[in-house]
Amino acid sequence: AEALKVGVAGLGTVGASVVQLLAKHGGQIARKSGRAVTVTAVCARDRNKDRGFDVSSLEWFSDPVEMAEKAEVDIFVELIGGDNGAAEECVRAALQRGIHVVTANKALLAKHGVSLAGLAEANNACLNYEAAVAGGIPIVKTLRESMAGNDVSRVYGILNGTCNYILTRMEAEGIGFEECLADAQRLGYAEADPSFDIEGNDTAHKLAILTSLAFGTKISSDDIYMEGITSIASADIEAADELGFRIKLLGVAQRTETGIEQRVHPTMVPKSSAIARIDGVLNAVAVDGDYVGEIVLVGPGAGGDATASSVVADIADIARGDQTPVLGMPAADLKEYQRARMRMH
Ligand code: NDP
Ligand code: HSE
Repeated sequence: AEALKVGVAGLGTVGASVVQLLAKHGGQIARKSGRAVTVTAVCARDRNKDRGFDVSSLEWFSDPVEMAEKAEVDIFVELIGGDNGAAEECVRAALQRGIHVVTANKALLAKHGVSLAGLAEANNACLNYEAAVAGGIPIVKTLRESMAGNDVSRVYGILNGTCNYILTRMEAEGIGFEECLADAQRLGYAEADPSFDIEGNDTAHKLAILTSLAFGTKISSDDIYMEGITSIASADIEAADELGFRIKLLGVAQRTETGIEQRVHPTMVPKSSAIARIDGVLNAVAVDGDYVGEIVLVGPGAGGDATASSVVADIADIARGDQTPVLGMPAADLKEYQRARMRMH
C-alpha cells in the first residue's frame, strides 16, 4: 500500500523530535505496523529557524488551520499547544475532513476532549493522544486497551516532569526553585507557560484524562482540587527529610462511595515507598484494577524524544489500522462525572 502521509503542525521540542524519529526509524515502523509513513507537510511560525532537519522538500504552512484544511495528508499531528485558538481549530478542521489526528495536547483534551472524541467518531477518524499523559509512558493505551477487562478503583501518580525535576534537584542539590525551573525550561520539559506546571494545572489536565479513561466518565478538570508546588520551600523539603519523607506532587483519582475524588497536591511520601524514588523528569502512574491488581508504570514524563516516542506509537497504531474509541467507549456512552466529598489522607 501507498505510504501514509503525515502532516506535523508544531516543530518545537516535541514536533522536531517526531520528524527526526520518523526519518530515523521509518523502516522499522513500516515493518512493525505493515504500512510506511512519511512526513509530507509541516507547520510552524518561523520558516527560517534551524530545527535540525531540512524542511525544503516538505510542504510548508505557517497557519495550522490552513494546513488542516488543505494539506493532502492522512494523519494530522498537532504539537502546537494551548487549549483553544489555533490548536483547537486545526484539530477540529482535520477531524471534520475525516483525517486522523494525533496530539500531545492535554490542555486541549481536558477542556474539549468529549466534544473532540464525538467529532472524531462522527467522521470515522482516530484521535490518539498517548503523549498527552506522562510523556513517554504508555498509560493511555494501558488504561484504554490493556485494562479493558478491569474495574479500576484508583489511578494516581507523579504526572508532571517539570515539578518532579524541580523537587528532586531542590532536595538533592539544595538549588533554589527558580534556578531549577529555568533548567527545566531550557531542557524542554516545561509548558510554554510554566505556571501550568508549577501551579498544578498540567497535572490536573492529565488526571482528568486518566479519570475519564479509568472510570468511563466525561472529562472534567474544573472539579479537581488543585494545589501546585510554588509554596514549597527548601525548608519544607528539609523538614520532610528529617521526618523520613519526600515531597512529591501527586495526582490522585479514586472511586469512593459518594463518587469520584480527583485531587492534585504536594504529598509527603515515606522515603521507603517506591514513589519516593521516582527522580528527576521521571513520572510514575499506578492503577488498581480488580482483576490485575496494582500495576505501576515508570518512565520519562517530558522531553522531546521521550514524548516523540509516544506520538509515533500513535501514528503506528493508525498505520496498523487500529481504531479504538477515543476515550475507551463511544463518547455518547460516557457518564457524567460525579464529584466525591473530599477525603484528604
Ligand atoms: P514548543 O513551544 O517547543 O513548540 C511549539 C511549536 O508550535 C513551535 O514550533 C511553534 O512555532 C509552533 N506554533 C505555536 N503557535 C503557533 C501558531 N499559532 N501557528 C503556527 N505554529 C505555531 O512546544 P512543545 O513541543 O514543548 O509542546 C507541544 C505540545 O506537546 C504541547 O501541547 C505540550 O503541552 C505537549 N507536550 C510537551 C511535552 C514536552 O516535554 N515538551 C511533553 C508532552 C506533551 P515556532 O517554532 O516557529 O515558534
Ligand atoms: N510540561 C510537562 C511536564 C510536559 O513537565 O510534565 C509533559 O506533559
